[in-house]
Amino acid sequence: MKLSQDMSKVEVKGFEAKFYDRLMDIITLGYYPFFIRKVIKDLGLKVGDKVIDFGAGTGRNALIIRKYVGNKGKIVGVEIGKEMKEQFIKKTKNFENIKLIDQRIDEPINLNEKFDVVFISFVLHGFIQEKREIIIKNAYNLLKEDGVFAILDYNNFDVDRANFLVKFAIRKVECPLAEDFIKRDIKTVLKNFGFKNFDEYFYFRKYVRLLKAKK
Ligand SMILES: C[S@@+](CC[C@H](N)C(=O)[O-])C[C@H]1O[C@@H](n2cnc3c(N)ncnc32)[C@H](O)[C@@H]1O
Repeated sequence: MKLSQDMSKVEVKGFEAKFYDRLMDIITLGYYPFFIRKVIKDLGLKVGDKVIDFGAGTGRNALIIRKYVGNKGKIVGVEIGKEMKEQFIKKTKNFENIKLIDQRIDEPINLNEKFDVVFISFVLHGFIQEKREIIIKNAYNLLKEDGVFAILDYNNFDVDRANFLVKFAIRKVECPLAEDFIKRDIKTVLKNFGFKNFDEYFYFRKYVRLLKAKK
C-alpha cells in the first residue's frame, strides 16, 4: 500500500479534539494522568529550562512541564488544531511563560530562540516519513547544543506478535502511518540527523517509548 499524508488522523478535529483529554483518560481506564506525569518526570527537566512542544494539544502537558521548569523556564506549544488551540489558551492563560505558536511542525520553523528540550508526544507516527524528517530537522535546528529531543510515541515492535487489543488499535483504529512508524528504526534516522546519546523509557508493556536523543 502506498502511504500518503491524506491517510493520517494526527490532525485531531471536532468532537475528538474537544474532548481529547477525557477520551485519553477513558481509553486508558483512568491511567493516562499518571502515565503522562511519569513521562514528564522522565524528561529530566530542570528549573529554568526552555521547552518547545510540537503538536502541543490541549495544554495538559504544558501545565505539567511548568511544574518542573518553574517561573524562570518557558514553554512554547506549537499547534494548528482549532479546538486544541482554544483549550491550550484557556488552560494556560494564567502563565506568562507558556506561549502558543500557530504553526505547522511539518514545514520549516524559523524562530529566533533555541530550546533545552523539544518534546513531541503522540504526533510523529502520524506523518509520512518525508514529513517526519522535516519535523526531526526542525527539532535539531531549534535545540541548543546538548539540547534534548524527546519523542513519546509507539515503540518499535512486531505488530503481528502484539496482543489482540494492541493489534486492533494499530490496524483498525490508527491510520496506516502508525504501523509504518512502529516498523522503523527511529534511532538510526535520528543518528543520520546528528543526534546521539540515546536514552529510552518504556510504558504500557513496552508498546510506548520515550526516546531521548542529544543534539
Ligand atoms: C494525537 S494529538 C497529541 C496531542 C499532545 N501532544 C498530547 O500528547 O496530548 C496530535 C496533535 O498534533 C497536532 N498536529 C497535527 N498535525 C500538526 C502539524 N502539522 N503541526 C502542528 N500540530 C499538528 C494536532 O492538532 C493534535 O493536537
